[in-house]
Amino acid sequence: MADGSIARGSAPWPCFLVPANVCPPYTVGTRILNNPPRHLLQIEGLLPPQIGAMLDLAESYVLLNRSGKTQRDLLRGRTLINLFFEDSTRTRTSFELAGKRLGADVINMSVSTSSVNKGETLLDTAATLNAMHCDLLVVRHDQSGAPALLAQKVDAAVINAGDGTHEHPTQALLDALTIRRRRGALAGLVVAICGDVLHSRVARSNIHLLTTMGSRVRVVGPPTLIPPAVERLGVTVFHDMKAGLEGADIVMALRLQKERMARGLVPSAREFFRFYGLDAAKLAWAKPDALVMHPGPMNRGVEIDSAVADDPVRSLIREQVEMGVAVRMAVLDLLARQARRND
Ligand code: CP
Repeated sequence: MADGSIARGSAPWPCFLVPANVCPPYTVGTRILNNPPRHLLQIEGLLPPQIGAMLDLAESYVLLNRSGKTQRDLLRGRTLINLFFEDSTRTRTSFELAGKRLGADVINMSVSTSSVNKGETLLDTAATLNAMHCDLLVVRHDQSGAPALLAQKVDAAVINAGDGTHEHPTQALLDALTIRRRRGALAGLVVAICGDVLHSRVARSNIHLLTTMGSRVRVVGPPTLIPPAVERLGVTVFHDMKAGLEGADIVMALRLQKERMARGLVPSAREFFRFYGLDAAKLAWAKPDALVMHPGPMNRGVEIDSAVADDPVRSLIREQVEMGVAVRMAVLDLLARQARRND
């Protein structure tokens, strides 16, 4: 939502899930997914078995990647287009790597050199890509809802790679996989999400995923950077960092998103770091074995101190990046299975 406020949708089944009677159940790992998704636009609305099945499939790709083996026949003959209207390092690259590891033809559309710069609309761009018979379309856009709009207009399976302040579903999946591998389960963990929650699509997707999977989620930050009525999503709000971190198993620092920020939300980066920047002294308020996460890109010395970010024992930041490739392979695999059913 443009004003950063959060509301949980009332529909039990979001539009991107195909009703159970349309597709037969199929197995991923040991679980059964009755509703394989056609697109992945958001975490909100997914059920615990669906999230668990995606994480199980991603886990199998972690093991495959580490073994050095490939599975290039899975997406052979399929075309994946990365359509990024906003900057990205991790998400774009890992989707490219994931697509190539599964054998897809991968095209990175650079918006800065495309006809979007000559005034072409989003929908005309979509029609153009559709005419090229793209199978998988990965979209990042600064407007919330842009991937959902595209999903209505193209034949391809659409994956939301981050839309405005709405959601970043694959980031939440990779965060969950990272936590689950270290802690064994998500249920019962206390997760403190700290900093600029207001502008964070990562926070929103993580809140939906973690609360659905039984974690106890806290959001910690100054009142100006916490969305109004965020408690409705099942989180507890803290404005005091010490109180927010006490007893936390996981501390997730978020980037201060100055580019989305109206002026005056924080006095200065230095002031923000003093009260909310995650350094060793503040981390000591959490559980002694608490783990540190950050979705990247990081502003060192603003929301996180370098000593904490680079801590080889406590920081999971590099592991998050590794999990990103496996999660995106799982998502591409899953959507391609569904696309084959529709062929
Ligand atoms: N976490 C994340 O979305 O990073 P990028 O902006 O580099 O893709």
